[in-house]
Amino acid sequence: MLDFLIFGGVLLGIMYIVLYLTVLKIPKFKSSVKLHGKTFIITGSNTGIGKATALDIAKRGARVILACRDKQRAESAVNDIKKQSGNNEIVFMHLDLASLQSVRSFAENFLKSEPRLDVLINNAGVVTEGKTKDDIGLIFGVNHIGHFLLTVLLLDRLKECAPSRVVTVSSRGYEIGTIDFECISTQKDLGRGNSALGLFMKYAHSKLCNVLFTHELAKRLEGTNVTCYTLHPGAIRTEIGRHANLLWKMILTPITTLFFLDVEFGAQTILHCALQEGIEHLSGCYFSDCAVQKVRAKARDDAAAKKLWELSERLCGLA
Ligand SMILES: NC(=O)c1ccc[n+]([C@@H]2O[C@H](COP(=O)([O-])OP(=O)(O)OC[C@H]3O[C@@H](n4cnc5c(N)ncnc54)[C@H](OP(=O)(O)O)[C@@H]3O)[C@@H](O)[C@H]2O)c1
Ligand SMILES: *[C@@H]1O[C@H](CO)[C@@H](O)[C@H](O)[C@H]1NC(C)=O
Repeated sequence: MLDFLIFGGVLLGIMYIVLYLTVLKIPKFKSSVKLHGKTFIITGSNTGIGKATALDIAKRGARVILACRDKQRAESAVNDIKKQSGNNEIVFMHLDLASLQSVRSFAENFLKSEPRLDVLINNAGVVTEGKTKDDIGLIFGVNHIGHFLLTVLLLDRLKECAPSRVVTVSSRGYEIGTIDFECISTQKDLGRGNSALGLFMKYAHSKLCNVLFTHELAKRLEGTNVTCYTLHPGAIRTEIGRHANLLWKMILTPITTLFFLDVEFGAQTILHCALQEGIEHLSGCYFSDCAVQKVRAKARDDAAAKKLWELSERLCGLA
């Protein structure tokens, strides 16, 4: 009996290691490109995948703007990144994506104080219930609307600095997302209800918004030498579930401990989209595992992408 258990345990262990090294592992972004003289903005870069991305880009010599909502958490990240990269051009600038006014102030401040923008990385994301300052559903507001306005306000600067890029971090979860335009128009939200499942579905919907946004943005940027990409970073161990209730935490913790990868892995596909040479013809596309991927029909629906853009403009007071 004991032999059997030990044998079973060893077998499971080997299966796990094989799984970890094959299915779960993400290829590394291999380029050694240096980035001196270039400026990057990364939203939500005080922790998680955004911070790991900021550190890599800092090591390559770029000026990195940490666009974050919490001064203390952001300044501690700035210090960590400076120390670990030896790069002193790491700057915190306040941005709360849950407030259109804050997005506008950030853009104004940035455009006044910084001469360049080479790559904008829309990374911040939440799976938390609540509303933004503008009474927009929080998940929709932070994951899509705030980034939509931020991008639009920075486009002229990106065009001046072309070739330049916009990288928006989505998730494979977009595959189960849908867009309920009626709900967006009447509720300023992607769905009704705040159960754990309801929140997860809103998250999936918001990640479909990220893909559709990138699809439409690419069309609007044709001929400008500004290109844009969206991606799934992988299943990564971060703080994103920190607001989940105890039951969810008890279910999620063993899964993330065993099957989710470290944040360095989560940065790889972002780095690929931001830095890989020769992918300009793939503007508007969705990436995963440092490679372009086919997307579901709903994620390349021209009419839906255009409609989402126009509704987003209206919610931001741009139209
Ligand atoms: N982890 C995964 O397995 C996974 C999988 C697929 C996709 N993603 C995507 O990857 C991106 C990064 O997620 P993560 O896992 O690294 O999550 P995380 O550790 O929770 O980091 C999220 C970041 O977003 C920031 N943020 C939240 N609300 C904000 C707001 N209103 N204004 C400005 N910044 C705000 C957070 O700031 P605070 O620290 O102040 O809260 C934090 O810096 C997200 O877009 C997520 O959807 C993650
Ligand atoms: C885009 O880049 C190409 C190649 O460098 C250049 O010839 C072209 O003038 C650029 N277009 C614009 C609109 O800047």
